[in-house]
Amino acid sequence: MKPVRFGLIGCGRVARYHAQALMEIEGSELVAVCDIVPERADDFSKRYGGDSYYDHRALLEREDVDVVCIATPSGDHPAIGIDAARAGKHVVVEKPIGLTLKEIDDLIDACKSKNVKLCTVHQNRFNPAIVKLREAVDQGRFGKFSHGSIAVRWNRGQHYYDQAKWRGTWKEDGGVLMNQCIHGIDLLRWMMGEPESLAAFTANHFHDIEAEDVGVAAIKFGSGALGTIEGTSNVYPLNWEETLTIFGERGSASVGGVAVNRIERWEFDDPDYSHSLGDMPDPESVYGSGHSLLLARMAEAIRNDGEPPVTGEDGRAAVEMVLAVYRSQETGSIVRFPLVQESERIAEARGLGGKR
Ligand SMILES: NC(=O)c1ccc[n+]([C@@H]2O[C@H](COP(=O)([O-])OP(=O)(O)OC[C@H]3O[C@@H](n4cnc5c(N)ncnc54)[C@H](O)[C@@H]3O)[C@@H](O)[C@H]2O)c1
Repeated sequence: MKPVRFGLIGCGRVARYHAQALMEIEGSELVAVCDIVPERADDFSKRYGGDSYYDHRALLEREDVDVVCIATPSGDHPAIGIDAARAGKHVVVEKPIGLTLKEIDDLIDACKSKNVKLCTVHQNRFNPAIVKLREAVDQGRFGKFSHGSIAVRWNRGQHYYDQAKWRGTWKEDGGVLMNQCIHGIDLLRWMMGEPESLAAFTANHFHDIEAEDVGVAAIKFGSGALGTIEGTSNVYPLNWEETLTIFGERGSASVGGVAVNRIERWEFDDPDYSHSLGDMPDPESVYGSGHSLLLARMAEAIRNDGEPPVTGEDGRAAVEMVLAVYRSQETGSIVRFPLVQESERIAEARGLGGKR
C-alpha cells in the first residue's frame, strides 16, 4: 500500500489526537510537524515523530508531504489552508474551518483550482451512536420530521480561556457556539437538512472574553421541520451533556452522554429496530475517538481519489449557521439562508467588509 504522508501545523491541545490517530492508521505516516513556538514543535516531534518546523511555509516546501492537518487558532485556518493548496497538498482543517464565509470560500476555491481535497474535522460524525442515528435517518425510520435539537451544556472555566490569547476573541475564535457547539450544529444540520431561517440570542455571563458563553436559537429547516440550538460553557460545576434529539412522526431518538456518544432514548414504530441497541459508553474525553476514523477515511480518499469524509462545504455550512446566530443577535431579527452578511463583529475584527 502506498503510504500517505502527513504534515501537522499547530502542536497545541488538539494536535495529539491527530498524531495518535496517524500512529494507528496503517499506511499513514506523520513526517513533519510545525509550530511557531519552537519548543512545542521540537517536543511534539520527539514524542510523535516527524521533522520539526517553525514556519508552515517551510514545511509546505517538502515534496514528500501529501496532506497537512491544520490545528492552529481558528481564524488562521483558511490562510494556511490556501498556502497548503497552492503547494499542492491536500488539506485537513480543524473545526471551525474558518470564521468568515469570504475566507472559507477562498479556501474552497483554492483547493478546487489546485485539484486537492479539503476535509473539515467534525469527528463526532464517527461516534458509533451518531452513525446509528444517521442510519435511521437514511433509512427513513423517523418518517416526516417534527423537530430536532442540539444542547451543548459544558463547562469551561476562565483558566481555559486564559490558556491562550486567541481564545474567546472575535478575530481568532468566536464564542462557545463557534468553538464548542459547532460539532453539534454540524450534526443537527447533517440529520435535519438545510436551514431556511433562524432567530437567536447570545450573551456573555461569566467569562472575561469578547465573545458569547451562552447562546440559544430557534431554527426553521427547508423541510418545514423546526429545531433549536442551546450552547454554553457556563454549566456549574463541570461538563453536563451534549445531546442531539430528533422527533419524527414514526420515531424519536436522543443521543447524549457528555459528547453525543450514548443512545439515551430510541423509539421507533418497528419494535425490532427499537430494541437493537448496543452498549455505548462515554469516551475518555469530549474529543471522542473520531479523529482516527476521519483521518483513516481521508487517507483512503487520497489513495483512491475519493470524496473526503467531511467536506469543506460541510464545514462552511456549520460556520454559516453560527454566523447566522451572531447576525440575529447583532440585528435583533430573523436571519435567512443563504447568509448575505457576515457577522459584523467578526468581519470587523478580521479586517473584512461584512457584505457577501
Ligand atoms: N475537533 C475537535 O474536537 C477540536 C478540539 C479542540 C480544538 N479544536 C480546534 O483546533 C484548533 C486548535 O485548538 P487547540 O485547542 O489545539 O489550540 P492551542 O492554542 O492549544 O494550539 C494551537 C497551536 O498552534 C500554534 N500556532 C499558532 N499559529 C501558528 C502558525 N501560524 N503556524 C504554526 N503553528 C501555529 C500555537 O503556538 C499553538 O501551539 C482550533 O481551531 C480549535 O477550534 C478542535
